[in-house]
Amino acid sequence: MKTILVTGGAGFIGSNFIRYIFGPGGFKGRVVNLDKLTYAGNLENLIDIELAQKGRYNFIKGDICDFKLIEGLFKKYKFDAVAHFAAESHVDRSIFGPKDFIETNIHGTFALLETARQAWAGRKDVRFHHISTDEVYGSLGATGKFKETTPYDPRSPYSASKAASDHLVMAYHHTYGMPVTISNCSNNYGPFHFPEKLIPLVILNALSGKPLPVYGDGAQVRDWLYVEDHCAAIWRVMKRGRPGQTYNVGGNCERKNIDVVKGICAALEKYEPSGKNPALKGPYVGLITYVKDRPGHDRRYAIDFSKIKKELGWTPSVTFKEGLERTVRWYIANPGWVHNVRTGSYKNWIKKNYTR
Ligand code: NAD
Ligand code: TYD
Repeated sequence: MKTILVTGGAGFIGSNFIRYIFGPGGFKGRVVNLDKLTYAGNLENLIDIELAQKGRYNFIKGDICDFKLIEGLFKKYKFDAVAHFAAESHVDRSIFGPKDFIETNIHGTFALLETARQAWAGRKDVRFHHISTDEVYGSLGATGKFKETTPYDPRSPYSASKAASDHLVMAYHHTYGMPVTISNCSNNYGPFHFPEKLIPLVILNALSGKPLPVYGDGAQVRDWLYVEDHCAAIWRVMKRGRPGQTYNVGGNCERKNIDVVKGICAALEKYEPSGKNPALKGPYVGLITYVKDRPGHDRRYAIDFSKIKKELGWTPSVTFKEGLERTVRWYIANPGWVHNVRTGSYKNWIKKNYTR
């Protein structure tokens, strides 16, 4: 791979991925990051990359649904790989307004595939890697795990739109022979996570003494993976995964939501004790508040990642305790990033620095 088109590289996982491949991933080529900068896209996530990778990193503000723009980029940069992260990614938002999910996640993926098909014209030395979610498989009961062969059974507009995009990607392999791969990963957490998702939301609410909302009975189970481990898995699949294959990626780390929230409170007590936090009147756990459940809330996700382990030798390396502590420390150490994201002023920073 010489030149990779990364879509959605200003988001949580995409920005961590770009940092990972230029660092531990050892990538020596060029990255072009195409991102629309929706509410979730934040170029402050990549300031260090902009400075350190001059000449090897370009940012383009634009929409993956824009055929003309993507065609132009393929012509100009001659991509030999695509790492497709761009998506609307939050289940709760998809319940309140599914339209953007259908447009970006389905139409946008189609626009990328179709442009790549025409630009690559049957080449086999290229790779289209699609980043997807375990949520396409639906909800598990008390036992069992999602395998690559588990039938798709999406329940939310978000997971349905990701399922549709996965099918399109595989169709381009079977119909046109495009060398595609897909990774379906469980819940990520770590630095640069937009604070609408459970872990960053709870950390930041706790630090400001606000309620920590737990949906329903808090007994829903997610399989958590530190974001850098996910990036390492994606990179391995892009380099060595077999075309036309799907790889499940998970943390071997099933936790009930309520236990995740309690774990965050414990990490916060260690690094920013509630007794010394003027926003608090008691311990962080006292802020836990059960609220109305999410409609159609999937009960349990768990991933069987034996295929990527066996074929590509990938396993998660960061324990949940360590990952949570790193994440809590990162949010405490980056009040500027937090302030800009919470007040929306990260958008002003982008306006000032990028006119395109
Ligand atoms: P995110 O919401 O943090 O980032 C998404 C990025 O895509 C943002 O930078 C946004 O500006 C950009 N974007 C949105 N619409 C666009 C469009 N039309 N054109 C160009 N850019 C656009 O999401 P994330 O958590 O980093 O997730 C990245 C990918 O990983 C998604 O495809 C998601 O489905 C998948 N995934 C996420 C998780 C998770 O736990 N967060 C787990 C498994 C898979
Ligand atoms: P979330 O981070 O939104 O990811 P996803 O819906 O993709 O799994 O939510 C993780 C879990 O936490 C999910 O079961 C919903 C629950 N949750 C809460 O209990 N409270 C919250 O405030 C949020 C955002 C999520």
